[in-house]
Amino acid sequence: MQTNPERQKQFEEQDRRIQENLKKIRHRIVVFSGKGGVGKTTVAVNLAFALMKADKKTGLLDADITGPNVLKMAGITGQPFMDGQNQILPMQKEGLQVISMAAMLPEDQPVIWRGPLRSGAISQFLADVIWGDLDYLLADLPPGTGDEVLTAAQRMRPQMAIVVTTPQEVSLLDCKRAVTMAKKLNVPNIGVIENMAGLICPHCEKTIDIFGKGGGERMAKEMDVRFLGKIPMELATREGGDTGEPPVLTRPESGSARAFLSIAEAIGKILK
Ligand SMILES: Nc1ncnc2c1ncn2[C@@H]1O[C@H](COP(=O)(O)OP(=O)(O)OP(=O)(O)O)[C@@H](O)[C@H]1O
Ligand SMILES: [Mg+2]
Repeated sequence: MQTNPERQKQFEEQDRRIQENLKKIRHRIVVFSGKGGVGKTTVAVNLAFALMKADKKTGLLDADITGPNVLKMAGITGQPFMDGQNQILPMQKEGLQVISMAAMLPEDQPVIWRGPLRSGAISQFLADVIWGDLDYLLADLPPGTGDEVLTAAQRMRPQMAIVVTTPQEVSLLDCKRAVTMAKKLNVPNIGVIENMAGLICPHCEKTIDIFGKGGGERMAKEMDVRFLGKIPMELATREGGDTGEPPVLTRPESGSARAFLSIAEAIGKILK
């Protein structure tokens, strides 16, 4: 294949800017999953705030270019500041620094882009956003094991991949693919989070295992990767996602919030 020298030069120049940015970010974490709708964005947003609560300077990159939900779930409105030289200042909430494609477009405007353009946008967020000094940068990825995951893994050089799954078989199957991808990409730490693990009935307080029980933990053991913890299925978490009030910030006593805080603590011990 012939390479276009001008393109190659641009790529190298962008990579130089990415490396400059990454030097100031101690730990990079990608959050992904084989299957859609399992709670990646919920996990990424709440973990980011949980890390902030532990006094860690944290950034959150919404790497889901066509389905960006981070701003909605984190309750952030407005637009990032752009200076005249293509540099972008992230948006903020409670000190958390956030960037998302959603802030660049009217709400109902779709992004109809093929893989290379979506990957290009992620690279641009890494190269041109002024993240500053951070303890953690989390990337919330779209479902599956496609272009965006590859780009994030190659250009962010994450020290940890968090694979989110629900306990049911179809999700676990896809989760295995995601874990295998993270292994192939040589991400040094791979952790599984089981989300929507049991619903506590508000009437009788019994736990209803809608999606089954313990599958994430079993799968993590089978695949020889870390099990980071499970998040219960809770009304507060779904409501908080819709209203932009993450339970870690607004309902710290809830089961989900407590689980997110303890997973953030576990991450702090793994990534030193
Ligand atoms: N533990 C939970 N308890 C209750 N509701 C939850 C929980 N986790 C996620 N949800 C809800 O499930 C839905 C899907 O979650 P979310 O958008 O975080 O998934 P996702 O994996 O990021 O989806 P996508 O693949 O589309 O990016 C949302 O409405 C969210 O509020
Ligand atoms: Mg999502």
